[in-house]
Amino acid sequence: MYRTHYCGRLTEEDENQEVQLAGWINTRRDHGKIAFIDLRDISGIVQVVLVPQDLDEASNKLIAELRPEFVLSLKGIVKKRSAKQINPNILSGKIEILAKSFEILNKSKTPPFEIDQEENNVNEELRLKYRYLDLRKERMKNNILLRYRIIKFVRDFFHEKGFIEIETPNLAKGTPEGAREFLVPSRLHPGKFYVLPQSPQQFKQLLMVGGFDRYFQIARCFRDEDQRGDRQPEFTQLDLEMSFVEREDVISIIEESLINLIKAVAPEKKIQQIPFPRISYAEAMEKYKTDRPDMREDKNDPNLLALAWVVDFPFFEKTDPAMNAGQGNGWTFTHNPFSAAKPEHKEWLLNKEKIGEILTTQYDIVLNGFEIGGGSIRNHEPLALQRVFEIMGLELDEIKNKFGHMLEAFEYGAPPHGGIAWGLDRIVAILANEPNIREVIAFPKTGDARDPMMDSPSDVSPKQLKEVHIKLSDDLEIEESPKSKKVFDPIEGNFSKEE
Ligand code: AMO
Repeated sequence: MYRTHYCGRLTEEDENQEVQLAGWINTRRDHGKIAFIDLRDISGIVQVVLVPQDLDEASNKLIAELRPEFVLSLKGIVKKRSAKQINPNILSGKIEILAKSFEILNKSKTPPFEIDQEENNVNEELRLKYRYLDLRKERMKNNILLRYRIIKFVRDFFHEKGFIEIETPNLAKGTPEGAREFLVPSRLHPGKFYVLPQSPQQFKQLLMVGGFDRYFQIARCFRDEDQRGDRQPEFTQLDLEMSFVEREDVISIIEESLINLIKAVAPEKKIQQIPFPRISYAEAMEKYKTDRPDMREDKNDPNLLALAWVVDFPFFEKTDPAMNAGQGNGWTFTHNPFSAAKPEHKEWLLNKEKIGEILTTQYDIVLNGFEIGGGSIRNHEPLALQRVFEIMGLELDEIKNKFGHMLEAFEYGAPPHGGIAWGLDRIVAILANEPNIREVIAFPKTGDARDPMMDSPSDVSPKQLKEVHIKLSDDLEIEESPKSKKVFDPIEGNFSKEE
């Protein structure tokens, strides 16, 4: 071991102890012959004093070489600082380390930006190219630690409530959730593709059929969408599903989990209204002109959290005739084709009547104007699910081809079930007071879906392409954007739909 203690955790209680520390030089200041360095590790910073007569000979020779971001292992004695040297801003601010010896474990080039500067005014491309250096910053460290605490809380909470964490495949088949999908060519099956899941929706429903009546997963999801501050091509959901429940059961456990989560990880925040208010889609559109209303009473209060449920969405909406290009019957789902209609509208769905008036059991949860989650009670009866696809204009063989496995599974005693998924990145960003989710993801993509550090997406060798039976065309027609496509695909759903 290179260390006995963490830098940032040393206090007056450790006075006169000999300690060994390891970390990075945050800053270096010279006062005549004496040098001060701030040594940094994951726990924080401690001040180290390098006095030539207290240091062994080997270390003395190295003092002149020390630069920011060099990696040191250092032995010394914990000493109290004099009253006027106390730094009240850090836990170790009342002590310093009088160094006896140190070893340079590694050198560092001068970083492309300063690590000890709090402001994030560095060009984001540069930050992402050197993300491993960006992560050394206090702000990023705190964000990633908050994310970890949130995920840990969620795991513990749902374990306590009897949920079982189950992994579902990432090499999957297309599922309609309103976005374009990422394709993975198959080497063993020429011309065939896996699709990266937009969410574990179908698998979690099949787990309910499999008898696991309370499932959750911290699930990676993939959507090939145009990017925004609150969207990434791969992002993380807390995904859960429960059997034998009604809407109120899901809503109640989610409220309990969010209230407790916020208390545990962000006690400085206050929730405006508990139980969370509910607003119908129609009312939200009329009053706020959006289905993700920001209901904060004081938008200048950084600690105010206005959580609300948006309910009673129309199940279907008319597709834009200009984009429909003669396909389908002119209807598509607004949220999730696997949702059940509200019980009072089930007959309309089964009879395919009053389509525009059918309301879904969908519930979205919004926080300060962001949609942080959504879910529904599902259609567990095969006929009702089939009707949804018929209303969307799919022929029977197409429905069987795409969703036959779901329809078939539901014929083997599917329990009534429902669930929800949170956008974890969005929740972390809001609790961290960050303006976008890139700030709370260790290795995010840029606004145009690149990783400047690994340089992805990137070319692959002709050999690799050949192995997966792909030949690049010289005259590829590159589409400008999904919106310019003007063809509506009822399976892909909603062309320009926002989640
Ligand atoms: P939905 O599509 O609403 O529902 O997704 C759930 C939540 O995931 C977040 N989210 C995103 N976060 C970051 N980047 C993205 N590109 C992105 N897309 C969505 C949002 C959203 O509320 N299977 C259903 C859930 C269910 O019905 O149980 C689903 O995925 O916060």
